[in-house]
Amino acid sequence: MPSLVSQPIFTDWKPQAALLWGQIPLLLRHALADTGLFTDAALAGLIDGYPRDDYALVIPGKQNEPQHARWTEGDIGEATGAQVLEAIRNGFLWLNLRNLPKNDARFAALADRIRSEMEERVGMKIDVFEMTLLITSPGAQTYYHCDVPGQSLWHIRGRKRVWLYPTTEAFMPAPLLEEVVMQAREEEIPFHDWYDDYAKVVDMEPGMMAHWPQYGPHRVTNLEGLNVSLTTEHWTGDLARSYKVRYANGLLRRAGFTPKSTATTGPGYHAKAALQSIWRRTRAARLHQWARHIEFRLDPDHPGRVVEIEPYDLKPRAV
Ligand SMILES: [Fe+2]
Repeated sequence: MPSLVSQPIFTDWKPQAALLWGQIPLLLRHALADTGLFTDAALAGLIDGYPRDDYALVIPGKQNEPQHARWTEGDIGEATGAQVLEAIRNGFLWLNLRNLPKNDARFAALADRIRSEMEERVGMKIDVFEMTLLITSPGAQTYYHCDVPGQSLWHIRGRKRVWLYPTTEAFMPAPLLEEVVMQAREEEIPFHDWYDDYAKVVDMEPGMMAHWPQYGPHRVTNLEGLNVSLTTEHWTGDLARSYKVRYANGLLRRAGFTPKSTATTGPGYHAKAALQSIWRRTRAARLHQWARHIEFRLDPDHPGRVVEIEPYDLKPRAV
């Protein structure tokens, strides 16, 4: 296994990538597969004993079904990591392993390496860095959405198609984005077929990495094979200031105003930063309080099959 320290993560970095980072969708190449952390054996070992609170096993929606209507969440149950992999390979499932650096020392080392290489190459200071592993079935998909932090997709195994849409008002109107930022939106994000005419469509092969601007709308469909990808999320001062402004604009809009500015400097910005801070503190105890409904478990004897169980709620930990 090549040393994580000596081998660069980015294998085709060019100076212009630093200028384009966060401005437009950017495609780069990476060497993550060389770490040996993503083989069947390594993944099975990682899944075995992964903390219950930090994984989500989901039956995703199928093509052309109403968004979010068919996402059901389940338990690994008695299945081994190897059986989970078989179930995903042969079935229609989506497994997220969240908080990887907290739960596995090898991924903590990898996260540090990626973070510091991003900081060095882009010339930015990252304040918070998170990493999630996605192991997903052929055909599985995520619907049109946007993420709030800086987001990168590191593709490692299988093939998937990613649609990256312009980060503009037409594709994600400000009131909608504010609801996403405030975690106030539970229903689907509207999608129109004509959006695809303006998307950058990328077939992600192993070794490809995509990074796009903050709030960049996107959707993903797995094309073939067991798909293994990492997502990394990062926060810089600039990204956090944008978040605060959008959050405050959402509060103002709810109060009947029509905020126009998204400036992240000046007195207006500081007033908004204070507003959202006070609001979020008073509201903090209620954030993330929704329960996750667990409705199935894997059948260890029949990879790809699931068994309905008496639904139960997985309560979030105290924040
Ligand atoms: Fe996303």
